[in-house]
Amino acid sequence: MTGPSATDPSATNRWVAPEWAQRYLGERATIPHRDEGMAALVELLPPAPERVLDLGTGDGILMGAIRAARAGVSGIACDFSDEMLDRARARFGTSAEIEVLRHELDDPLPVEWGEFDLVVSSFAIHHVSDERKRALYGEVLNRLVPGGRFYNLEHVASPTEELHDEFLVSIGKTRATDDPSNRLASVEDQLTWLREAGFVQVDCHWKWLELALLAGRKP
Ligand SMILES: C[S@@+](CC[C@H](N)C(=O)[O-])C[C@H]1O[C@@H](n2cnc3c(N)ncnc32)[C@H](O)[C@@H]1O
Repeated sequence: MTGPSATDPSATNRWVAPEWAQRYLGERATIPHRDEGMAALVELLPPAPERVLDLGTGDGILMGAIRAARAGVSGIACDFSDEMLDRARARFGTSAEIEVLRHELDDPLPVEWGEFDLVVSSFAIHHVSDERKRALYGEVLNRLVPGGRFYNLEHVASPTEELHDEFLVSIGKTRATDDPSNRLASVEDQLTWLREAGFVQVDCHWKWLELALLAGRKP
């Protein structure tokens, strides 16, 4: 189901290590077109979302951008990395509106978190297996209000090994320095999984090589 650039599904998830998070945060600004993808997501936000859930928030960069673009947003920013949670808490520390919570994406989304107008994620869901991605998409749908939207800015699989290698070159990496925790799935598969989960208006709204903005709405 996944493209040829998918990595070993049994690989350890390196993101629990603080130095892995620090390495990413140090390099993030150099990832080509990353800001463009996030800007596309922010541009497509509904006019007045109230509750927002950010899955794999890291240091809260996406939730921060959403709050900057839409006043009055509250919600939950979750991650499983202590390093990232500390940084997200530092970002939202003075805000009573954003709860920063530990959550392992392999576990079901807690029903007690309630409902959201918007669920977002940036470059996080590709760290779980394809089976878990599919289940998670169904859980996201269940946590959305009717008409609520899901935007997943994601690292997706290239359709060929050659294109994957070209992508790595373009971000200054090699197969040896690439993230072994990646479990990449193609845009096509993921749009199918979103439709199968029950999302409508499913589309890929933006893409540059292996970076893509996948979206759907709850009917
Ligand atoms: C590439 S970083 C992206 C962080 C942030 N969303 C951003 O756009 O900069 C991936 C994030 O996913 C988190 N993550 C990876 N696997 C996870 C898992 N199984 N459960 C929860 N969070 C996970 C990492 O801790 C990290 O914060």
